[in-house]
Amino acid sequence: MVSEKTIEERLKALRTTLTQHDFHYYVQDAPVIPDAEYDTLFRTLQELEQRYPHLITPDSPTQRVGAPPLKTFAQLTHQTPMLSLANAFSDDEVIAFDRRIREILGVDRVAYAVEPKFDGLAVSLVYENGMLAKGATRGDGYTGEDITLNLRTIPSIPLRLQMSATDLFEVRGEVVMLKADFAHLNEQQHKKGEKIFVNPRNAAAGSLRQLDSRITAARRLTFLAYGIGAFHENQPMFSTHSEILAYLASQHFLVAQQSGTVTGVEELLAYYRQMGGLRLSLPYEIDGVVYKVNDLAQQETLGYVSRAPRFAVAHKFPAQEASTELLAIEIQVGRTGALTPVARLAPVFVGGVTVTNATLHNEDEVQRKQIMIGDTVIVRRAGDVIPEVVAAILERRPAHARPFAMPDHCPVCGSKAVRLPDEAVTRCTGGLYCPAQRKQAILHFASRRAMDIDGLGEKLVDQLIDQELVRTPADLYQLRIDTLAGLERMAEKSARNLVTAVENSKKTTLPRFIHALGIRHVGEATARALAAHTGGLEPLMNMDAGQLQQITDIGPVVAQSIADFFAEAHNREVIGQLLKSGLQWEQPGSANQQLSGVNPVISGKTFVLTGTLPSMTRDQAKNRIEQQGGRVTGSVSSATSYVVAGSDPGSKYAKAIELGIPVLDEEQLLAFLQMTSASE
Ligand code: IVH
Repeated sequence: MVSEKTIEERLKALRTTLTQHDFHYYVQDAPVIPDAEYDTLFRTLQELEQRYPHLITPDSPTQRVGAPPLKTFAQLTHQTPMLSLANAFSDDEVIAFDRRIREILGVDRVAYAVEPKFDGLAVSLVYENGMLAKGATRGDGYTGEDITLNLRTIPSIPLRLQMSATDLFEVRGEVVMLKADFAHLNEQQHKKGEKIFVNPRNAAAGSLRQLDSRITAARRLTFLAYGIGAFHENQPMFSTHSEILAYLASQHFLVAQQSGTVTGVEELLAYYRQMGGLRLSLPYEIDGVVYKVNDLAQQETLGYVSRAPRFAVAHKFPAQEASTELLAIEIQVGRTGALTPVARLAPVFVGGVTVTNATLHNEDEVQRKQIMIGDTVIVRRAGDVIPEVVAAILERRPAHARPFAMPDHCPVCGSKAVRLPDEAVTRCTGGLYCPAQRKQAILHFASRRAMDIDGLGEKLVDQLIDQELVRTPADLYQLRIDTLAGLERMAEKSARNLVTAVENSKKTTLPRFIHALGIRHVGEATARALAAHTGGLEPLMNMDAGQLQQITDIGPVVAQSIADFFAEAHNREVIGQLLKSGLQWEQPGSANQQLSGVNPVISGKTFVLTGTLPSMTRDQAKNRIEQQGGRVTGSVSSATSYVVAGSDPGSKYAKAIELGIPVLDEEQLLAFLQMTSASE
């Protein structure tokens, strides 16, 4: 017979081990054992607890699975109120904030703690004698809702503190849903035909405010700690905010890696720019940064105004989402004949620009998002990404709203539009008969990463096609200055420049030429692979689908599309004309041929390397960046896109901070290097 004491010890050991692995996995993002091993340990604990239910403790990792649903949430009064932050929307407002603080404190320079402003929900966690006792939403700041059961399911919230128990310790922070978890959740919701969440914040809110905590447990939420609330006796003594954060990290809370300290207003603004640059690459959404006077004694001197501290401010980024009216849905015809519904919007300022059009992707997306013409919709523009309509606000749907239907004919050429059974896209069947497709084909042919014909813009291509001066790419090489000069908005000088640009484009590379042809599914990377493998256009034109599939990364669909393209007599004819007009390229394998794929985050960007990187030399890093089309220079200027800093970085690092250039560590650089874009 095993004694109960032995069982208890065994349970305790299992819990400690599992809690430690939860910490490595969810907080440090660095698991130390394989998932399967974790699962085995977990099951062992579960089975043992089933046999000895009276030995279950509330801090057991098995107790994170949720509990039977509540009828309502109880109210909880915060022991110290949960205040909000004043906002700053411009550099000037930040300068004024810093000036006010310096005046009150009577000092020249102030040390600030700086951290991301997480876009989630504020919560308070109350630990009694080291154990998680209560958790609540912010509510009105004084009273919130008791969501203890839900918060217990969040793996990055410790159920027990590491420290010697103080009777009361309150941790405050934000519950967010990581971008990856959000994407995963929406994918699942879509599969199940359930509600799609507009953004990670709404998804986090919806998941946290569930009366059934088992639903919360099934959603992946993350808690990021940013401060403390009430605490009693034996309390740790802190003199700065950064000490508090370090202490929270030591208690196994997740504290943003991007938190830090700076001095003076210039460094506040530099931090804002740096985080703005990193915003899209962070795993969670942020809507700004927060500046807090670091010294707690100074904080106390500064005190509070109405419901916000005078010692802190949130410096907000331009909103990425806004609502506006969807005036109409128009159809755009793409290079491959794809009909794309495009939303025409009442102008709205979002993501730093005024948006009037946004893509709706395809018919299914419009249905899935339940969007009708006339709706008030949420528009999102993140970074340089094309604006998109995220959702309709159903509560505001007007009586005159009407549903959208995909046309069954191409709005440009009138050919039949068809949608293949296993495709999301409806396509015009007109091919190059369709002027819209011809225009797109010419624009693509001339684009910077294809034949790079400078000055051949949309307006000009419209005229060339509409007046039938150009029907195929080959016709571009027959254009004469006098013909061009006769066109609208075409002075003789620009006509001359264009003819020169066309002439210059004749000297090209094989990958560029293959890319320029606009073969379906053949993007830049595939074009490169084809050129490298075949060594010339002739052999490529004569390969069948089977042979093409032998090439690495070319699957059956792409292979068939290439073979079909070259089998088309009309295409061969155009290629013949192009070659006759003097197009030429160096043989692959010769110097200055780029071999690797295009990497949208590296290509065209300028990097500066400083300090010692943990796993590679600076030369190795330089080579890899250059292979992917990036530039590496020796000094930091406003033209620098990123500074990669290792240990003991030099003055380049300081310069980057001063100029607000994003700084990457090796891990982030490696992540960037892996972002090679897939072909179309
Ligand atoms: S400190 C006295 N730090 O922003 C105020 N708040 O507008 C203490 N928030 O309700 C808040 N990230 O939910 C602080 N790093 C951060 C934050 C942060 C997000 C939220 C918080 C608060 C709201 C204030």
